[in-house]
This record gives sequence, C-alpha cells and structure tokens, in this order.
Amino acid sequence: MCGIIGYCGPRAAREVLLEGLKRLEYRGYDSAGICVGANRALTVIKRTGKIADLREIVPTGLAGNWGIGHTRWATHGEVTDVNAHPHTNCAGDIALVHNGIIENFAALKEKLVHDGHVFRSETDSEVIAHLVSDFYEGDLEAAVKETLQLLKGTYGLICVHASEPDRLVGARNGSPLVLGVGGDEMFLASDVMAILSHTKQVVYLEDGEVVRVQRDSYHASDLRDRRIDKKVETISWELDTIEKQGHPHYMEKEIFEQPDSVLRAMQGRIDHENLTAHLGGLNMTESELLGIERVKIIAAGTSFHAGLVGSYLMESIARIPCGAELASELRYRNPVVERNSLYFAVSQSGETIDTLSAMRELKRKGAKVLGVCNVVGSTIARESGAGVYIHSGPEIAVASTKAFTSQLTVFYLFTLLLARMHNMSFEGGKEFVDGLAALPDLIRGGFEEQNHIRALAEKYSRYRDFLFLGRGLNYPVALEGALKLKEISYIHAEGYSAAEIKHGPIALINEETPSIFLVPNDRLREKVISNMKEVKARKGKVIALCASGDEEVRDTADDVITVPRAGEIWYPFLMVVPLQLFAYYTALKLGRNVDQPRNLAKSVTVE
Ligand code: AGP
Repeated sequence: MCGIIGYCGPRAAREVLLEGLKRLEYRGYDSAGICVGANRALTVIKRTGKIADLREIVPTGLAGNWGIGHTRWATHGEVTDVNAHPHTNCAGDIALVHNGIIENFAALKEKLVHDGHVFRSETDSEVIAHLVSDFYEGDLEAAVKETLQLLKGTYGLICVHASEPDRLVGARNGSPLVLGVGGDEMFLASDVMAILSHTKQVVYLEDGEVVRVQRDSYHASDLRDRRIDKKVETISWELDTIEKQGHPHYMEKEIFEQPDSVLRAMQGRIDHENLTAHLGGLNMTESELLGIERVKIIAAGTSFHAGLVGSYLMESIARIPCGAELASELRYRNPVVERNSLYFAVSQSGETIDTLSAMRELKRKGAKVLGVCNVVGSTIARESGAGVYIHSGPEIAVASTKAFTSQLTVFYLFTLLLARMHNMSFEGGKEFVDGLAALPDLIRGGFEEQNHIRALAEKYSRYRDFLFLGRGLNYPVALEGALKLKEISYIHAEGYSAAEIKHGPIALINEETPSIFLVPNDRLREKVISNMKEVKARKGKVIALCASGDEEVRDTADDVITVPRAGEIWYPFLMVVPLQLFAYYTALKLGRNVDQPRNLAKSVTVE
C-alpha cells in the first residue's frame, strides 16, 4: 500500500516530488523519501515520519529536475530510516521505489549477498536495486527488464540511473502505475492523486508492462521488448473523489475492498502442498506449536469481536481450548497465566492502550503474547516481538471494517495450522483451504444486495433502538453489527446471543425495536428461527440475514437480506458485510459524519 512517484521535466524535482507525496498521505504510511538526480549523481534523502518531517531535511536548493519519491507502508522490515525508500545499489548510482511484495526476495538476497552485494535494509525491495545493478550494461530499461524476469510477487516500481539523466523506467505487475503526460514534463505514480494537480492526461499501465520515460516522450513495451501502443486518457474525477477511489467515503471504499484485503491477508500463507498454513511471523517451532495447551485472545472493540470468532473456531476445529476477553477487563483482574498458554493481542492500530497495557501485564506474568496487527512497527507489534500482520492496508475510516475480516482471516489460518498438527486430516485440510480460496469471490457476491440493503437501512433509519442477534460463530458478528450501527449512526443497538433473548432482552421487544437476526443455513438455523418467531409473536419487527433461497426465513421475517450460500464456518465473513453496509447507509440517511463519527478516535491511545 505504498505510494510512489517519479518526475522528469523542466522544474526542480524536489518540490514536485514532495508535493506529490503529500497527495499520497491519505493512503497511510510510516516513512517517506526522495531521490533527485543532477550532474550524473543521485541524492537520496529518506526517513521515518511524515512528509513534513522529510521536507525539513531536504535542502531547499537541492538541484535536479528528475527523480523519484516514496511513501512506505511497511510490510517487510521495521519502520526505520534505512528501510524507507528509495533503495539503491552498492554504488549508489541506481535508485528505485517499489510498491508491492517480492515473495522470493529471500532467495534472491541470499545469492546477491553471496556474490558480494552489501545490503543496508531489511526490505524485499532493496533486492531489486542490486539485481538491476548486476544486469546494468549501459541501458537501464534493459537491466530492469532482465531483473523483472527473476521476481515473483507484485510490483509497481520506478528506477533511475545516475548516468541516464532525465530518464525514468517504470514497471507494473499487480500494483498500480500510471503515467502523467504533461506539456514538456512527465510523471509516474502509483495513484493519479499524486499527479492530478499537474495534468489530467494519463496512461494507465497494465501488468507486465514497462515504460521508459523522458520529459518529452515515453515508450511502453512488454518484457520481451515488444512495443505497446498506449492510449492517453483524460481524468474526469476531482482530487477529493480519487482519494476514495470513486467512493464518497473511506468507509464505503474499505467495505468494498474486503475481497482484496482478505486475499492479501492470506497471500503467501497457504501451503497448498501440505494443506496447512504458514505463518512465519509466529517465530515458533513445530514443537512449541504442538505444546500449546490453550489460546487466549485479548482485544478491544471490533478486534475483540474478531478474536471471539477466532476463539470459537479454534476450539471447535483445532480442538485447543480458546477464549477471548476484553483487554480492559483482563488488565485489572489479576489474571492467572497458565503454563503452555499462548496469547494473541489483536489490534488494527497496534496502539490501543487497553490492549497494550493488558499485553504488558501478561508479559510481566511470563505469558507469551503474539501481536495480530495491521500497522507494521506499531507498539503492540514491536513489544510482542512476534505475531502476524493482517496486511489489510491503511484503514482510514474510524469504523473498522476491512480490518475485521482480515483479522478473521489470520485466525482462520492459525486454526488451520493448529488443526492440521492435531486432528484435521489431509482431506479436511483440502476442504478448509478450498474454503479460504473461495472467500474473496463469496464476499464479492454479497455486494449484489447493496441497493436492497440501502433501501432497508433507509426504511428502518427512523427507529431508535435495535437488537442484533446471532448464535455460534455469528454471535460475535451480531455484536459487531451492533457496534457498527451505534458508532456511526448514533442509534442505540445491542448485540446478543439469539438464545439469550428470552433471558431478559425480549422484554424490550415492541413495534419500535427492530431485531436483526443472523440466521445462515448452519446447525443452529432452526433454533434461531424459533427465536425469530418469539419476537414476531410480540409484534417485534424482524430483519433476517440468511442464505440465498431460504424461503422459511423469508416467510418468517418482515424483511430479508440474503448472503451467498457457503459452508457454515465461512458465514462470519459473509454476514458482517451486510451489517457494515446497513450501518453505513443508515448513517448516511441520518446525515452523520461517516468517516469520523462524533466522540470517536481511530486509535484509542489514552485510557
Ligand atoms: C471499531 O469500529 C472501533 N473503531 C473500535 O471499537 C476499535 O475496533 C477499537 O478501538 C480497537 O482498535 P484497534 O483494533 O486499533 O486496537
């Protein structure tokens, strides 16, 4: 999720690059850097922190009218100055910026080190600069193309060479790259946001394409040097809509990003040969994993709901006792840390004080605590020392959506890993892996109900109290649905186990308190339908989320939202999306500030 930019033209590259990176800030990042070429030399300036921090250390008089820039969202390697981009070869006459993940970088790096290359960073990207250097014989574009043949993974990259002034070489595979065509200047960027203030004439590169750029021309080709004629398009969007990629709010963008973010969370982590999961960040040996006697999950808010799903799943499938607890509660109840227990501290931001403090308390009592975070190098990620990043990409909206399903993905992967070490068969592993692989399309299939969900949200937006009810794996999803609605629409909503409704909450049922039931075709379906009928018998309105084609539910509820049919363990992924959209459209109808709801912060760093 990094941002990249390149420039060549008559203007001072310093200002164009820094302003372009500023335009990419919305994507979220932890460090930034630029490289400017002049007098057959490259000047690289980079550091952790914000663009404003970088600007302070870039000399205002820095000469050079061509160069590249980068905002880093760390994936490989901690958040440090040296891990920031641009990266260079040993001689420092080649520099590049990269957005993506090179999956085979370790093997490539090992050979490069063996051949005498000296690496400065922990990143996968630096490997590319050294490879280009090895292949360079006076033609940067040719050297880049040779290099790309060796890479496995995704890239949007821009490369420069000190002895080829006023020239950029860009390449795309899996990460976006766009060429901005100016009067007598050219731009390359990962996102039109970075260049829109200079030109609306753009050329979108496709995977497998390379472009050589000078200030007055560009040449696109494939890896086998076949020229590709590219059409120049005119951007009609305004700056503001592009940040959200055409969506009116970050929250909607992030809801619809979930097929991709769930895929990113599992990328490179499924062992298709042994039908298990590979989670390198755990830093645990097989015997340590086999020695786990119980798992406990601590978190807050949405992350707690994800952890609760994970705890149900782990216990039922991996047969490991597992529980989830609010970090804020555990921290002060003087918990007993039992031997051979493994704890997970789950936090999108990695900075939530309740979760961080509970983790520190557990570590003081000798517990092993792993982090499940989104922000690389965040405090919880660093202090836990090991864990699993969810790779959801920056989540900008305060209401967490894509992080939830990415957290679920990590817990499903960990469940697969443990289950295959215990009682899950090879065939069981195959079925589980196939289920994971089908998730992105299943989630995408649920989007078809978008307009119907919006209509229901608007129809029910006048009510002031809601109950969200689910059982089993969907009980935590009911909690999450209630949290989403209350935090962005400000309507009171409670999540409950559907079975629990008769132990009190049913006293609340009347015509002014709609109940939203999660009733997939799983083993508890009939029981939840009974709970629905209890509500209906008391004139309560019922909205039911059910698998497509479930006529009995349709006949029982007042309104129905359908989700794609799937194996029962996959419904948390499919049920949460309609609830996210229901909350979103309700808040829109009520004119709320959807991305920054009142009283809330994206990361609660104070008690
Ligand atoms: C979720 O929509 C809320 N914004 C909030 O509950 C959030 O999940 C909670 O504060 C935990 O944040 P974290 O995942 O960054 O630790």
